[in-house]
Amino acid sequence: MSNILSKFAAEILFKYHQRAKLSMETTLVLLKPSCVQRQLIGEITSRFERRGLRIAGMKMMQLTDQILREHYAHLVERPFFPALAASMKASPVVAMAICGVEAVQVVRAMTGFTNGRAADPGTIRGDYAMSNQQNIVHASDSVENAAIELARFFKPEEIFDYKSALQGFIYSIDEC
Ligand code: TYD
Repeated sequence: MSNILSKFAAEILFKYHQRAKLSMETTLVLLKPSCVQRQLIGEITSRFERRGLRIAGMKMMQLTDQILREHYAHLVERPFFPALAASMKASPVVAMAICGVEAVQVVRAMTGFTNGRAADPGTIRGDYAMSNQQNIVHASDSVENAAIELARFFKPEEIFDYKSALQGFIYSIDEC
């Protein structure tokens, strides 16, 4: 009897540990002008959907120098920044809030290396980009930056907390 009880306790502890380990995250993706102009909005969006990620917010917007200087603050002093800013203002972008278990690193991995020529085939940049700058998508690189970037591009009411009807077929019960 005590064996059965300790097995049960171990299972509960394991499930608790699994739950504690996995986090439902929301990350920011920008479909850049290189994506919008090449008419790849649907194709790239459907990659995220097919993976099992949930689109929690989506809107088209024209970026300004002000938002780009904030968003790329770590690059403002780099010689390529003026060209980067121009490329990001060349047309509207599509901003997306994308949600899923460990979504930040999942989306980042789907995005691939910055330079499309070095990005692995199978990643978005590796399949659609030939450039270091015209590289189709931006994706947040950490949970902390995702929160900052989502607040930069979305009002709270533009991010929707609905539950995916397919959640039980995308994750096991221990994962979400
Ligand atoms: P970065 O934050 O380093 O990469 P990532 O987009 O993969 O997170 O750079 C931001 C953007 O700046 C990058 O997507 C394209 C542009 N960029 C250039 O134009 N030239 C460069 O040499 C680098 C490093 C980035």
